Amino acid sequence: MHKLKILTIIGARPQIIKAAAISRSIKNKFADKINEVIIHTNQHYDDNMSQVFFDELEIPNPNYHLNVGSGTHGKQTASMIEGIEEILLKEKPKCVIVYGDTNSTLAGAIAASKVHIPIIHIEAGLRSFNKSMPEEINRIMCDHVSTLLFSPTKTGYNNLLKEGFPENNIPPYSIDNPRIFHCGDVMYDNSLFFSTLSEKKTTFLKDNNLENSDFILATIHRNNNTDEPLRLNKLFNAMNTIATENKIKIIIPLHPRTSKLLAQNLFPELYSKIKTSEYIKIIAPVSFLEMIELEKNATLIMTDSGGVQKEAFFFHKPCIILRTETEWSELVACGSAILADADENKIVEAFNHFSQKNKLDFPDLFGDGKAAEFICEQIIENIK
Ligand code: UD1
Ligand code: UDP
Repeated sequence: MHKLKILTIIGARPQIIKAAAISRSIKNKFADKINEVIIHTNQHYDDNMSQVFFDELEIPNPNYHLNVGSGTHGKQTASMIEGIEEILLKEKPKCVIVYGDTNSTLAGAIAASKVHIPIIHIEAGLRSFNKSMPEEINRIMCDHVSTLLFSPTKTGYNNLLKEGFPENNIPPYSIDNPRIFHCGDVMYDNSLFFSTLSEKKTTFLKDNNLENSDFILATIHRNNNTDEPLRLNKLFNAMNTIATENKIKIIIPLHPRTSKLLAQNLFPELYSKIKTSEYIKIIAPVSFLEMIELEKNATLIMTDSGGVQKEAFFFHKPCIILRTETEWSELVACGSAILADADENKIVEAFNHFSQKNKLDFPDLFGDGKAAEFICEQIIENIK
């Protein structure tokens, strides 16, 4: 039987992890129907931001590396578009899969739409309604040139309807007759699948004397938090206050973007406090299985990451979101997450609120753990 050739574009850490769900589904259920070719733009390239996930999550090695690396938005995106276009013309896939909202997503969407290859957007429809975020621009532009749009949440699906996407339209689907789906979250699939593996394979807590102790897990990498010194100082001040007053450890696997700016953007006195703190532990980015171990055992999670705030929910942990708004508004609506911005008072108040250990509600919002399977079935049915 003739296999459908799909081309997957990944580049940043969360996309590599998301792609694991689709690759696993292809391997387990659709190997006779789908042939997946993978391009890695290398937007992320440090071993602990990229290779570790291929080793650990059994994602097939990319067929192509673009070695684009870091740069300004224009330079980085342009270089990706050039590389992707060349491969699309050579490989002639039936469709292109892009994930989320990074510059690699946008580059894939621009390159594929211009050479008339249908785009499958996984994690479509999410909106922060804040166009100063590069991600908001990337996701809106990508959605509007896509053919099959898979939204992980009902809110995302409704956002697409509000932007004029049709509902219940009939095939054949195309860039001019796109089809939108509400299908659950491939990251929920992954969290369920890798949770057991994490328990078997990781010893991070044991190795770091964290077993049976309370700790907070925190991550910070959003550009407005890292690049605006005032915000970064407020965030670390709040964490220092919570850690010292409550004698609780805060484990921070720090994104390289933030690591590089810490000394430059924190006031010297705070920087020195953080570096010598008995409670605040800044560590290098960890693997996904280690991250799951940390998330499952943390008392509370503080983050500005899209992925990590959802994983807090998946593992039934309260979450303080270090942003003014979130694309995952359901988390806030059901009370398990609080938007605290980079506001010291709000962050401390949110911590105190969750410390009272009121029972939190974690309804089923992200599907049944089979979103990847559904997506593959729809691709096979609708892309000819
Ligand atoms: C990107 C995405 C963001 C996503 C995040 C996931 C865009 C516009 N942003 O942000 O949506 O949440 O990835 O982590 O695409 N760096 C390294 N080593 C690496 C990668 C990056 O040192 O392997 C440093 C470089 O100094 C680089 C900086 O991090 O300039 C930012 O990297 P970049 O990929 O441009 O953006 P992220 O902040 O990672
Ligand atoms: N993650 C990881 N190791 C870390 C930090 C994050 O494996 O040290 C995982 C995390 O579990 C989630 C994804 O990376 O699945 C989120 O990526 P990130 O926060 O970089 O980006 P975002 O989701 O905000 O786009």
